[in-house]
Amino acid sequence: MNVAFFSAKPYEKPFFEAAGAGAGHAFAFFEASLSGATAPLAAGHDAVCAFVNDRLDAPVLEALKAAGVRFIVLRSAGFNHVDLAAAERLGLPVARVPAYSPYAVAEHAVALILDLNRKIHRAHARVREGNFSLDGLMGFDLHGRTAGVIGTGAIGVCAARILAGFGMRLFASDPVENPEMRALGARYVPLDTLFAESDVITLHCPLTPQTRHLINAAALAKMKTGVMLVNTSRGAVIDTPAVIEGLKSGKIGYLGLDVYEEEGDLFFRDLSGQVLQDDVFARLTTFPNVLITGHQAFFTREAMQGIAETTLKNLADLEAKGNSENCVWTAAHHA
Ligand code: NAI
Repeated sequence: MNVAFFSAKPYEKPFFEAAGAGAGHAFAFFEASLSGATAPLAAGHDAVCAFVNDRLDAPVLEALKAAGVRFIVLRSAGFNHVDLAAAERLGLPVARVPAYSPYAVAEHAVALILDLNRKIHRAHARVREGNFSLDGLMGFDLHGRTAGVIGTGAIGVCAARILAGFGMRLFASDPVENPEMRALGARYVPLDTLFAESDVITLHCPLTPQTRHLINAAALAKMKTGVMLVNTSRGAVIDTPAVIEGLKSGKIGYLGLDVYEEEGDLFFRDLSGQVLQDDVFARLTTFPNVLITGHQAFFTREAMQGIAETTLKNLADLEAKGNSENCVWTAAHHA
């Protein structure tokens, strides 16, 4: 199959070439992200392989269909960036990678928690400057504190397992209860209770109409003063201006972000030589108690291999039967 990759990075190619070896595919790796302007690049390809900040709205999907594209494969778990109704209308099956390494994302969330608590990023900078003062670096024992896990699917339960290992009490919120969470001693509680009781809140739910701006001013008002908030799910689960107010007032004591609502204009590129145009993001970077990574939680060798292998399997299934168990929408479901 001829496959056009959008938002392709050099570090991805070896994983896809290894996973696709011998399968007879031809891959074109485009660095450009997918948009109305770049969709014509897909002409002559059977499938488009897209990433999290590629745009797959109705006009782009229509352009891809007109260019002869038959399948969309996402090299991500999240599919909030795809207009599924338009894909269905156009008869374009969309497959994703539902699970690759949940450990990768959970471990990164915990890395943010540990770094924020013990201020490792500040300590590292100080030591390099020959400043060995401990002023302002005091942390707290995670042992005995309460962690609130919002979204207890594959990643949430992995994060909970690590946090349970620290001796943290676990509260959880998810419309679907996961028995593995109960086995860890977690209690499913109403969201308001989780907000009120948690010292650390970590977000592992998908972005849906129900979770968009779940963390807003009203939610923050219910939280403990000095709460630690960590978001490795999707940027728009947090209302960023409300969170900035929470940081200014001291309501939020620590903020760890791997995702940002407007990250599509920033992340996965080297913009170090340019003037940052996003004033909200710029404000976030000024707080000493905010730690931001650029959507790298998934980025381990094991996860990249898993993403490549599942994407190639999705392509093979789509070619053979026009369907895949990993389709979020497929024409065959409606046949
Ligand atoms: P999953 O589907 O296994 O689990 C998601 C859980 O969230 C489910 O149990 C679901 O019932 C729950 N949920 C849905 N609506 C909810 C709500 N309103 N409140 C609380 N929980 C709710 O998904 P997985 O693999 O655990 O991934 C979770 C999210 O992590 C993905 O949707 C994606 O947005 C994000 N992610 C981020 C990555 C990164 O690199 N930063 C990489 C991979 C995923």
